Amino acid sequence: MRLSRRVAGGGLLLAMIVAMTACGGDDGGGGGTASKEVEVFTWWADGGEKAGLDGLVSTFATDCGQFTFVNGAVAGGAGSNAKQVLASRLTQADPPDTFQAHAGAELVDYINAGQVEDLSAQYQEWGLTNAFPAGLIQNITVDGKIYSVPANIHRANVLWSNKAVVAGAGITKDATSLDAFFADLDKLKAKGVTPLAMGKDWTQLMLFEVVLISDLGADKFTGLWNGTTDWAGADVAKAIADFKKLLTYTNADRDTFDWTDAEKLIMDGKAGYQLMGDWEAADLDAKGFKDYAFSVFPGNTGTFQWLADSFVLPKGAKNPDGTKCWLKTVGSAAGQKAFNTKKGSIPARTDANTSDYPAYQQAAIADWKNLKQAPSCAHGSACSQGWQGALNSAMGKFSGDGDAAALQSALVAAAGQFAKK
Ligand code: GAL
Repeated sequence: MRLSRRVAGGGLLLAMIVAMTACGGDDGGGGGTASKEVEVFTWWADGGEKAGLDGLVSTFATDCGQFTFVNGAVAGGAGSNAKQVLASRLTQADPPDTFQAHAGAELVDYINAGQVEDLSAQYQEWGLTNAFPAGLIQNITVDGKIYSVPANIHRANVLWSNKAVVAGAGITKDATSLDAFFADLDKLKAKGVTPLAMGKDWTQLMLFEVVLISDLGADKFTGLWNGTTDWAGADVAKAIADFKKLLTYTNADRDTFDWTDAEKLIMDGKAGYQLMGDWEAADLDAKGFKDYAFSVFPGNTGTFQWLADSFVLPKGAKNPDGTKCWLKTVGSAAGQKAFNTKKGSIPARTDANTSDYPAYQQAAIADWKNLKQAPSCAHGSACSQGWQGALNSAMGKFSGDGDAAALQSALVAAAGQFAKK
């Protein structure tokens, strides 16, 4: 973990940098020695996530040789630690040169707080305006201004499995309904393995969201986040009951596990299934584990639950020219290829060559085009950070006490507090 960075420049130095970059006049070529470093803040510290970041860094080294990448990664899945560190740095007016933010409601939080700069001019200059799907552009735009450069599209509603463990329990085909899935989980239980590997709060929120998609369908699920579906409904109560039953098939120590700890149960042959985003494909590949399979979560057929990582130019960044060069790399065809072939995600750009990608992403590229899209709260496309925090806490509490009525009340209260009126 790296919390303090370069020596503070001071007013005179800052004035010099501003003068030098103004003279440089290009989109990333200026800067003197003091402004060479570009601190990139992510939570991509290990495995497939780090491999993806390394891909971007190598393109950055080629395209932006005048700048030096500084790794500001803070480990912890889904930014569970990084987001707190970032929030405190932003409050103290000590932003990194760039940070990752999910497209959608999470990014809007930063925009509304005035913490990120408008990049509309860069979109024009770099020809990005038509490079990304219109729906995605809408998710990073507020009042006609575009505030981030998307690096990818990830899929959240994917079920991963250890092939040998699943076959050993006599399971021969992928379940397509929750009922069929419960029957498969029983077969794994009878074999003495953990049927469903599980981690802490945000991973439980992911599982709960896909159960909601199964029970409500994609449209009503999406309505939970835009105020058109009632969290107090009987269908949400049914989803809570299904989710509660699913938790009985998970490892008892789930609340102490990050997603990679649960993934290790799969790799070690101690568990059959895990619900996780498609960064798991990259991570299993990076760790050399080959005997895995993937399918859409039972009952989610036809729905692509999406999220997108994007990078921003924070207000007050110390090296804005260096940041712009990073952002230009992130948005470039070469950068997206170097990143996404290693990250398990698909390129946000629409002009990518599918054959450049591993088998999992080839399937995901087709699904992204053809399936209905639903957002993710656990990964910021559906809900604000406050709402996400409230739901993560509610999940953690439910994992301990199993009180279904209390969980539904907490869900209703969170929507009342955080949904846009
Ligand atoms: C998500 C992020 C992904 C991946 C995942 C697990 O929030 O968008 O890129 O890093 O967390 O850490």
